[in-house]
Amino acid sequence: MDATVGQGGHASAILQAAMPGGRLLGIDLDPDAREYALGRLQPYAGAAHLVAGSYTQMLELAASRGFEGPDGILLDLGLSSAQLEASGRGFSFLRDEPLDMRFDPESGPTAAAIVNTYSYEDLAEVLYKYGEEPRSRAIARAIVASRPLGTTGELAALVSGVRAGARAGVKRRRSGRIHPATRVFQALRLAVNSELESIAEGLRQAIALVRPGGRIAVIAYHSLEDRIVKSTFVRESRACVCPPGAPVCTCEHVPSLSVVTRKVVTPSWQEVTENPRSRSARLRVAQRL
Ligand SMILES: C[S@@+](CC[C@H](N)C(=O)[O-])C[C@H]1O[C@@H](n2cnc3c(N)ncnc32)[C@H](O)[C@@H]1O
Repeated sequence: MDATVGQGGHASAILQAAMPGGRLLGIDLDPDAREYALGRLQPYAGAAHLVAGSYTQMLELAASRGFEGPDGILLDLGLSSAQLEASGRGFSFLRDEPLDMRFDPESGPTAAAIVNTYSYEDLAEVLYKYGEEPRSRAIARAIVASRPLGTTGELAALVSGVRAGARAGVKRRRSGRIHPATRVFQALRLAVNSELESIAEGLRQAIALVRPGGRIAVIAYHSLEDRIVKSTFVRESRACVCPPGAPVCTCEHVPSLSVVTRKVVTPSWQEVTENPRSRSARLRVAQRL
């Protein structure tokens, strides 16, 4: 099961390795991604099944398609290059597009709704919690004072302005390698799609669904995502999850996983050279007991 099938890159590699006789269920929230993947998986027609939905519904989606107990489940988190570059849905601060950022363009609040309706306190919290943005309060204040904001270009210019203001008068620091709006855009995307909350639920369902001996592989792209994956795998592989220092074990926790990747797997220098976007990828794999 590829629970984030995207452009079907991993799915076609999985199917190739699973032939003859293998089957794959691909899930994605994004209709454009599913359409693209459908074309790409044409050579495996009959073996590839694509379904609309969230990986937070994978138990139900798998049951409805006869995919109980798959051998493996992949979660390749976040957004795809196609969504970033060409979806026109406001994922990138490098283009001027409507502030949307929903993976599923049919459901949930847009980034514009968050930016234009949240209170100052709630906005500052989103920017801090999901973007680890050090200027969260100043940026939230500037957003509230400049409403309504309609496009990515307006938001990116506003954030750059706040940062430039903060630097004026202070000894000029090196400007760093990331765009000043990177953290704000990440925060809004995570909030719009409830991404961190979804990861925890997706992992819970993946553990319940995969067959004993089957594997769950997760690729995360930043520390907030990876922390949830790591802590879930560690917790679910422990025989005891009592608080540290508890004199006797009372939790009766039954481990469900064994962690396969003792250390997180990161791309080689060569892979990063060939595909610079892979540079932040962090892969963890666990096996169902
Ligand atoms: C990094 S891309 C996956 C790329 C894919 N592995 C490939 O080879 O082309 C992440 C995909 O996950 C999808 N996605 C994000 N959150 C999701 C969710 N909760 N349920 C299902 N799909 C989701 C996005 O729409 C996007 O297409």
